Amino acid sequence: ATGSVLDSLARPLHDLRISVTDRCNFRCVYCMPKEVFDKNYEYLPHGSLLSFEEIARVARLFIAHGVEKIRLTGGEPLLRRHLERLVEMLAKLPTASGKPLDLTLTTNGSLLARKAQSLKDAGLTRVSVSLDALDDATFKRMNDVDFAVADVLKGIDAAQQAGLGPIKVNMVVKGGLNEQEILPMARHFKDTPTILRFIEFMDVGASNGWNMRDVIPSDELRRRIHAEMPLLPADPNYNGETAQRWRYADGGGEIGFISSVTHAFCHDCSRARLSTEGQLYTCLFASRGHDLRALLRGGRSDAEISAAIGALWRVRADRYSELRTINTDGLSRSGSERRVEMSYIGG
Ligand code: GTP
Ligand code: 5AD
Ligand code: SF4
Ligand code: SF4
Repeated sequence: ATGSVLDSLARPLHDLRISVTDRCNFRCVYCMPKEVFDKNYEYLPHGSLLSFEEIARVARLFIAHGVEKIRLTGGEPLLRRHLERLVEMLAKLPTASGKPLDLTLTTNGSLLARKAQSLKDAGLTRVSVSLDALDDATFKRMNDVDFAVADVLKGIDAAQQAGLGPIKVNMVVKGGLNEQEILPMARHFKDTPTILRFIEFMDVGASNGWNMRDVIPSDELRRRIHAEMPLLPADPNYNGETAQRWRYADGGGEIGFISSVTHAFCHDCSRARLSTEGQLYTCLFASRGHDLRALLRGGRSDAEISAAIGALWRVRADRYSELRTINTDGLSRSGSERRVEMSYIGG
């Protein structure tokens, strides 16, 4: 049961996002607010995490179904001990098409200055770094742990120097919190190889107090940037890309907008997510996963697990962000089912 597999909406399985830890050293207000993720919060016990061997085995089976991009996420993936070992194991996996595997990770950058070179040496191809402001006071209000902007910038530089570029920087925009940082961030990364992407604040999880009033639509952001630094549209890099790409008209490089709220991109979403404890989620907003760990630890053969993955993908019909738009006109969150946190399922 290998080869490319299509879901019920004819979307291929192309990306696998693997969460390697549910822990993070930041407490971003839109993701792991301190009131919820306090010292009494129960993270997963070590034994319930997939081991590197288990992750590599699942990854190999996904690759046989057509996956060509693997992204390590969390929580903060660089908090997982010896992550370089996992990177090394994954980097060796050959893809079905013979194209090299795109092996990347999404990090808050706090440990990147220290780890960029060893990650590159292990076979990582690139990184995306989250950064929500250039101003320390604003950044600290968002990460809620007093982490300084300069240290993230050092991480970005180290990654670029190690050959992990071009780096993508992800900025979540939350109205009333960091919107004054939109233009400073754009100016800072203009004329550099780094690609800044603005992310609409999403209603993911159940603890971030999401409200449509806090979402600044990407079209509005783009208008503000365009007024000072004219932009031209650019073609997508691949089918189902999260970001809409734009280029500065003066040749100053590229920026992007990830508009999951106002321009949902479910129609060609090819992303599967593997949670820290081995649950397969076919959508970021799913309320339940499928227990691959039980198969891995239950003595099932590769062929059996591979067949299970194929069967789950074939019936996939998720398109949460599009339905939210249709059901509610984007004015409130739809569905009352409990949703998993992003730090668990992986951004
Ligand atoms: P590239 O491979 O560089 O295009 O990266 P990417 O955009 O696929 O991955 P990244 O982790 O940088 O994603 C940036 C942000 O986009 C995430 O933090 C999420 O906020 C959002 N995002 C990514 N995938 C999805 C998705 O499938 N659905 C929704 N709604 N949002 C997503
Ligand atoms: N809305 C949008 N993006 C989010 N992220 C985390 N929570 C949210 C949310 N509620 C993003 C982070 C980072 C990635 C891990 O997910 O900024 O780029
Ligand atoms: Fe940590 Fe990233 Fe969530 Fe912030 S957005 S709390 S850095 S996982
Ligand atoms: Fe894919 Fe679900 Fe995100 Fe839509 S909401 S793009 S289906 S993960």
